[in-house]
Amino acid sequence: MTLSFDEIRTVAVVGAGTMGRGIAQLAAMAGFQTLLYDVEAAALERATAAIQKALEKGRQRGKVSPQQIEQVGKLLRTTTDIEALQADFIVEAVIEDPDVKKAVFEKLEAINRPETIITSNTSSIPISALSRGLRRPERFGGMHFFNPPHIMKLVEVVRGAHTAASTVQVITRMAEAMGKTPIAVKDAPGFVVNRVARHFYLEALRLLEEGVADVPTIDGLMENVGFRMGPFRLMDLIGVDTNHSVTTSMFRAFFYEDRFRPSRIQQQYVDAGLHGRKSGRGFYTYE
Ligand SMILES: NC(=O)c1ccc[n+]([C@@H]2O[C@H](COP(=O)([O-])OP(=O)(O)OC[C@H]3O[C@@H](n4cnc5c(N)ncnc54)[C@H](O)[C@@H]3O)[C@@H](O)[C@H]2O)c1
Repeated sequence: MTLSFDEIRTVAVVGAGTMGRGIAQLAAMAGFQTLLYDVEAAALERATAAIQKALEKGRQRGKVSPQQIEQVGKLLRTTTDIEALQADFIVEAVIEDPDVKKAVFEKLEAINRPETIITSNTSSIPISALSRGLRRPERFGGMHFFNPPHIMKLVEVVRGAHTAASTVQVITRMAEAMGKTPIAVKDAPGFVVNRVARHFYLEALRLLEEGVADVPTIDGLMENVGFRMGPFRLMDLIGVDTNHSVTTSMFRAFFYEDRFRPSRIQQQYVDAGLHGRKSGRGFYTYE
Protein backbone atom coordinates (compact mmCIF):
# COMPACT_ATOMS: atom_id res chain seq x y z
CA MET A 1 0.00 0.00 0.00
CA THR A 2 1.32 3.43 -0.91
CA LEU A 3 0.67 6.23 1.56
CA SER A 4 -1.71 8.87 0.29
CA PHE A 5 -0.66 12.52 0.44
CA ASP A 6 -2.96 13.13 3.42
CA GLU A 7 -1.13 10.49 5.43
CA ILE A 8 2.28 12.16 5.07
CA ARG A 9 3.37 13.73 8.36
CA THR A 10 7.13 13.39 8.41
CA VAL A 11 9.77 14.25 5.81
CA ALA A 12 13.47 13.40 5.81
CA VAL A 13 15.99 15.13 3.58
CA VAL A 14 19.30 13.35 3.00
CA GLY A 15 22.23 15.67 2.24
CA ALA A 16 22.33 19.22 3.59
CA GLY A 17 24.26 20.90 0.78
CA THR A 18 23.18 23.53 -1.72
CA MET A 19 19.89 21.75 -2.43
CA GLY A 20 19.04 19.69 0.65
CA ARG A 21 18.92 22.67 2.99
CA GLY A 22 16.43 24.54 0.80
CA ILE A 23 14.26 21.45 0.36
CA ALA A 24 14.19 20.90 4.14
CA GLN A 25 13.18 24.52 4.65
CA LEU A 26 10.32 24.08 2.18
CA ALA A 27 9.12 20.87 3.86
CA ALA A 28 9.02 22.53 7.31
CA MET A 29 7.30 25.60 5.89
CA ALA A 30 4.67 23.27 4.40
CA GLY A 31 3.98 21.95 7.92
CA PHE A 32 5.81 18.62 7.87
CA GLN A 33 7.94 17.42 10.77
CA THR A 34 11.28 17.55 8.97
CA LEU A 35 14.62 15.91 9.61
CA LEU A 36 17.70 17.04 7.68
CA TYR A 37 20.63 14.62 7.62
CA ASP A 38 24.23 14.88 6.47
CA VAL A 39 27.36 12.83 6.99
CA GLU A 40 29.17 16.03 7.97
CA ALA A 41 28.15 17.95 11.10
CA ALA A 42 29.73 21.08 9.57
CA ALA A 43 27.38 20.80 6.57
CA LEU A 44 24.41 20.83 8.96
CA GLU A 45 25.74 23.91 10.71
CA ARG A 46 26.15 25.70 7.40
CA ALA A 47 22.68 24.55 6.37
CA THR A 48 21.06 25.87 9.54
CA ALA A 49 22.74 29.25 9.09
CA ALA A 50 21.73 29.39 5.40
CA ILE A 51 18.10 28.53 6.22
CA GLN A 52 17.95 31.26 8.87
CA LYS A 53 19.42 33.75 6.43
CA ALA A 54 16.97 32.75 3.68
CA LEU A 55 14.00 33.03 6.07
CA GLU A 56 15.13 36.43 7.30
CA LYS A 57 15.57 37.68 3.75
CA GLY A 58 12.10 36.34 2.93
CA ARG A 59 10.68 38.18 5.96
CA GLN A 60 12.29 41.46 4.91
CA ARG A 61 10.73 41.06 1.47
CA GLY A 62 7.33 40.28 2.94
CA LYS A 63 7.35 36.74 1.48
CA VAL A 64 7.76 34.89 4.79
CA SER A 65 5.74 35.62 7.93
CA PRO A 66 7.13 35.55 11.50
CA GLN A 67 4.73 32.62 12.15
CA GLN A 68 6.34 30.66 9.33
CA ILE A 69 9.80 31.32 10.77
CA GLU A 70 8.59 30.09 14.13
CA GLN A 71 7.07 27.01 12.48
CA VAL A 72 10.37 26.13 10.78
CA GLY A 73 12.10 26.51 14.16
CA LYS A 74 9.65 24.03 15.67
CA LEU A 75 9.46 21.49 12.85
CA LEU A 76 12.98 21.32 11.44
CA ARG A 77 15.64 19.17 13.13
CA THR A 78 19.08 18.11 11.94
CA THR A 79 21.03 14.92 12.55
CA THR A 80 24.19 13.04 11.60
CA ASP A 81 22.61 9.76 12.73
CA ILE A 82 21.34 7.90 9.69
CA GLU A 83 19.37 5.50 11.91
CA ALA A 84 17.13 8.45 12.84
CA LEU A 85 16.01 8.84 9.21
CA GLN A 86 12.60 7.29 9.52
CA ALA A 87 9.90 9.22 7.71
CA ASP A 88 6.82 8.97 5.51
CA PHE A 89 8.46 10.83 2.62
CA ILE A 90 12.18 11.11 1.90
CA VAL A 91 14.07 13.36 -0.50
CA GLU A 92 17.64 12.33 -1.26
CA ALA A 93 19.98 15.21 -2.18
CA VAL A 94 23.49 13.81 -1.72
CA ILE A 95 26.29 14.25 -4.28
CA GLU A 96 25.61 13.29 -7.91
CA ASP A 97 27.18 9.84 -7.71
CA PRO A 98 25.02 6.76 -8.39
CA ASP A 99 27.00 4.51 -6.02
CA VAL A 100 26.70 6.95 -3.11
CA LYS A 101 22.98 7.41 -3.82
CA LYS A 102 22.35 3.66 -4.07
CA ALA A 103 24.09 3.01 -0.76
CA VAL A 104 21.84 5.67 0.82
CA PHE A 105 18.68 4.07 -0.65
CA GLU A 106 19.67 0.63 0.59
CA LYS A 107 20.07 1.98 4.11
CA LEU A 108 16.84 3.99 3.93
CA GLU A 109 14.84 0.97 2.80
CA ALA A 110 16.30 -1.14 5.59
CA ILE A 111 15.28 1.28 8.36
CA ASN A 112 11.92 2.50 7.01
CA ARG A 113 8.54 0.85 6.78
CA PRO A 114 7.53 -0.45 3.34
CA GLU A 115 5.04 2.39 2.73
CA THR A 116 7.69 5.13 2.86
CA ILE A 117 8.13 7.00 -0.42
CA ILE A 118 11.72 7.68 -1.39
CA THR A 119 12.58 10.31 -4.00
CA SER A 120 15.80 11.52 -5.55
CA ASN A 121 16.71 15.09 -6.44
CA THR A 122 19.24 13.82 -9.00
CA SER A 123 19.85 16.18 -11.90
CA SER A 124 20.95 13.62 -14.43
CA ILE A 125 20.89 9.99 -13.34
CA PRO A 126 17.90 8.10 -14.76
CA ILE A 127 15.42 7.17 -12.05
CA SER A 128 15.00 3.67 -13.53
CA ALA A 129 18.74 3.08 -13.14
CA LEU A 130 18.72 4.32 -9.54
CA SER A 131 15.74 2.12 -8.70
CA ARG A 132 17.46 -1.05 -9.84
CA GLY A 133 18.06 -3.29 -6.86
CA LEU A 134 15.63 -1.45 -4.59
CA ARG A 135 13.28 -3.58 -2.51
CA ARG A 136 10.33 -1.37 -3.36
CA PRO A 137 11.11 0.42 -6.64
CA GLU A 138 7.40 1.23 -7.10
CA ARG A 139 7.68 3.66 -4.19
CA PHE A 140 10.66 5.48 -5.66
CA GLY A 141 10.60 8.42 -8.08
CA GLY A 142 12.35 11.60 -9.15
CA MET A 143 11.67 14.95 -7.50
CA HIS A 144 14.00 17.39 -9.19
CA PHE A 145 14.08 20.85 -7.62
CA PHE A 146 15.95 23.83 -9.05
CA ASN A 147 18.49 26.06 -7.38
CA PRO A 148 17.75 27.84 -5.10
CA PRO A 149 14.88 25.51 -4.17
CA HIS A 150 13.10 27.96 -1.88
CA ILE A 151 12.83 30.43 -4.78
CA MET A 152 12.59 28.47 -8.03
CA LYS A 153 9.06 27.30 -8.73
CA LEU A 154 9.70 24.34 -10.99
CA VAL A 155 9.95 20.71 -9.88
CA GLU A 156 10.42 17.98 -12.49
CA VAL A 157 8.51 14.88 -11.34
CA VAL A 158 10.07 11.80 -12.88
CA ARG A 159 8.44 8.42 -13.25
CA GLY A 160 10.93 5.60 -13.63
CA ALA A 161 10.21 2.22 -15.20
CA HIS A 162 9.05 0.84 -11.84
CA THR A 163 7.48 3.94 -10.25
CA ALA A 164 3.79 3.42 -9.37
CA ALA A 165 1.24 5.99 -10.54
CA SER A 166 0.25 6.48 -6.87
CA THR A 167 3.86 7.41 -6.02
CA VAL A 168 3.93 10.00 -8.81
CA GLN A 169 0.69 11.40 -7.43
CA VAL A 170 2.11 11.81 -3.91
CA ILE A 171 5.32 13.43 -5.22
CA THR A 172 3.21 15.86 -7.25
CA ARG A 173 1.04 16.74 -4.26
CA MET A 174 4.12 17.18 -2.06
CA ALA A 175 5.65 19.59 -4.58
CA GLU A 176 2.41 21.57 -4.62
CA ALA A 177 2.27 21.63 -0.82
CA MET A 178 5.78 23.15 -0.89
CA GLY A 179 4.47 25.90 -3.16
CA LYS A 180 6.06 24.51 -6.32
CA THR A 181 4.86 23.89 -9.86
CA PRO A 182 5.36 20.19 -10.57
CA ILE A 183 5.77 19.12 -14.20
CA ALA A 184 5.78 15.43 -15.10
CA VAL A 185 8.65 14.40 -17.34
CA LYS A 186 9.77 11.06 -18.71
CA ASP A 187 12.86 9.36 -17.41
CA ALA A 188 15.80 10.33 -19.61
CA PRO A 189 19.35 11.38 -18.67
CA GLY A 190 19.16 15.00 -17.50
CA PHE A 191 15.36 14.89 -17.93
CA VAL A 192 14.35 18.06 -19.83
CA VAL A 193 15.86 21.16 -18.23
CA ASN A 194 19.37 19.89 -17.63
CA ARG A 195 19.56 18.32 -21.08
CA VAL A 196 18.77 21.61 -22.79
CA ALA A 197 20.80 23.69 -20.33
CA ARG A 198 23.90 21.48 -20.69
CA HIS A 199 24.84 23.32 -23.88
CA PHE A 200 24.48 26.69 -22.18
CA TYR A 201 27.36 25.68 -19.89
CA LEU A 202 29.38 23.52 -22.25
CA GLU A 203 29.43 25.94 -25.16
CA ALA A 204 30.49 28.75 -22.81
CA LEU A 205 33.32 26.57 -21.48
CA ARG A 206 34.41 25.79 -25.05
CA LEU A 207 34.49 29.51 -25.86
CA LEU A 208 36.71 30.00 -22.82
CA GLU A 209 39.00 27.10 -23.86
CA GLU A 210 39.32 28.57 -27.35
CA GLY A 211 40.14 32.00 -25.93
CA VAL A 212 37.26 33.63 -27.79
CA ALA A 213 36.24 35.65 -24.72
CA ASP A 214 36.88 35.65 -20.98
CA VAL A 215 34.48 34.71 -18.17
CA PRO A 216 32.99 38.17 -17.37
CA THR A 217 32.63 38.97 -21.08
CA ILE A 218 30.71 35.77 -21.84
CA ASP A 219 28.49 36.24 -18.77
CA GLY A 220 27.96 39.92 -19.56
CA LEU A 221 26.92 39.17 -23.12
CA MET A 222 24.44 36.47 -22.11
CA GLU A 223 22.98 38.66 -19.35
CA ASN A 224 22.63 41.48 -21.85
CA VAL A 225 20.47 39.37 -24.12
CA GLY A 226 18.12 38.59 -21.27
CA PHE A 227 19.48 35.60 -19.33
CA ARG A 228 19.18 36.28 -15.62
CA MET A 229 22.65 34.87 -15.01
CA GLY A 230 25.50 34.13 -17.39
CA PRO A 231 26.73 30.52 -17.60
CA PHE A 232 29.76 30.98 -15.32
CA ARG A 233 27.87 32.88 -12.64
CA LEU A 234 25.25 30.14 -12.77
CA MET A 235 27.83 27.33 -12.54
CA ASP A 236 29.25 29.06 -9.44
CA LEU A 237 25.76 29.13 -7.92
CA ILE A 238 25.02 25.50 -8.79
CA GLY A 239 28.46 24.29 -7.66
CA VAL A 240 31.17 23.86 -10.30
CA ASP A 241 31.71 20.30 -9.01
CA THR A 242 28.02 19.39 -9.12
CA ASN A 243 27.62 20.90 -12.58
CA HIS A 244 30.65 18.93 -13.80
CA SER A 245 29.35 15.68 -12.26
CA VAL A 246 26.04 16.20 -14.06
CA THR A 247 27.82 16.68 -17.40
CA THR A 248 30.03 13.63 -16.80
CA SER A 249 27.02 11.53 -15.90
CA MET A 250 25.13 12.66 -19.02
CA PHE A 251 28.17 12.11 -21.27
CA ARG A 252 28.25 8.49 -20.09
CA ALA A 253 24.48 8.07 -20.40
CA PHE A 254 24.56 9.35 -24.00
CA PHE A 255 27.23 6.80 -24.96
CA TYR A 256 29.98 9.40 -25.07
CA GLU A 257 28.35 11.62 -27.69
CA ASP A 258 30.71 14.51 -28.32
CA ARG A 259 28.02 17.12 -27.71
CA PHE A 260 28.06 16.21 -24.00
CA ARG A 261 31.87 15.96 -23.66
CA PRO A 262 32.91 17.48 -20.29
CA SER A 263 35.27 20.45 -20.25
CA ARG A 264 38.92 20.13 -19.20
CA ILE A 265 38.90 23.65 -17.79
CA GLN A 266 35.96 22.76 -15.59
CA GLN A 267 37.75 19.58 -14.47
CA GLN A 268 40.72 21.73 -13.41
CA TYR A 269 38.46 23.97 -11.32
CA VAL A 270 36.94 20.91 -9.66
CA ASP A 271 40.35 19.36 -8.95
CA ALA A 272 41.58 22.66 -7.47
CA GLY A 273 38.59 22.84 -5.11
CA LEU A 274 37.26 25.94 -6.86
CA HIS A 275 33.65 24.84 -6.51
CA GLY A 276 31.95 28.22 -6.74
CA ARG A 277 30.04 30.11 -4.08
CA LYS A 278 30.02 27.24 -1.61
CA SER A 279 33.84 27.13 -1.51
CA GLY A 280 34.32 30.91 -1.69
CA ARG A 281 35.84 30.79 -5.15
CA GLY A 282 34.98 29.39 -8.55
CA PHE A 283 34.96 31.39 -11.75
CA TYR A 284 34.51 34.39 -9.43
CA THR A 285 35.61 35.11 -5.85
CA TYR A 286 33.08 35.46 -3.01
CA GLU A 287 33.32 36.90 0.49
N1 LIG B 1 23.30 22.41 -7.16
C1 LIG B 1 22.27 22.50 -7.98
O1 LIG B 1 22.05 23.52 -8.61
C2 LIG B 1 21.33 21.32 -8.13
C3 LIG B 1 20.07 21.55 -8.70
C4 LIG B 1 19.17 20.48 -8.80
C5 LIG B 1 19.56 19.22 -8.38
N2 LIG B 1 20.81 19.04 -7.85
C6 LIG B 1 21.16 17.67 -7.40
O2 LIG B 1 21.00 17.63 -5.99
C7 LIG B 1 21.94 16.71 -5.43
C8 LIG B 1 22.77 17.44 -4.39
O3 LIG B 1 23.46 18.50 -5.01
P1 LIG B 1 24.03 19.74 -4.20
O4 LIG B 1 24.34 20.78 -5.21
O5 LIG B 1 23.13 20.03 -3.05
O6 LIG B 1 25.42 19.12 -3.68
P2 LIG B 1 26.37 19.66 -2.51
O7 LIG B 1 27.73 19.21 -2.88
O8 LIG B 1 26.14 21.11 -2.27
O9 LIG B 1 25.84 18.89 -1.21
C9 LIG B 1 25.87 17.50 -1.11
C10 LIG B 1 25.81 17.15 0.37
O10 LIG B 1 25.68 15.73 0.47
C11 LIG B 1 26.45 15.33 1.59
N3 LIG B 1 26.73 13.91 1.44
C12 LIG B 1 27.64 13.28 0.69
N4 LIG B 1 27.54 11.95 0.82
C13 LIG B 1 26.53 11.74 1.69
C14 LIG B 1 25.92 10.58 2.23
N5 LIG B 1 26.35 9.36 1.91
N6 LIG B 1 24.88 10.74 3.08
C15 LIG B 1 24.44 11.99 3.40
N7 LIG B 1 24.97 13.12 2.92
C16 LIG B 1 26.01 12.99 2.07
C17 LIG B 1 27.68 16.22 1.58
O11 LIG B 1 28.29 16.27 2.86
C18 LIG B 1 27.06 17.56 1.17
O12 LIG B 1 26.68 18.32 2.30
C19 LIG B 1 22.74 16.15 -6.60
O13 LIG B 1 22.17 14.94 -7.00
C20 LIG B 1 22.58 17.23 -7.66
O14 LIG B 1 22.71 16.74 -8.97
C21 LIG B 1 21.69 20.06 -7.70
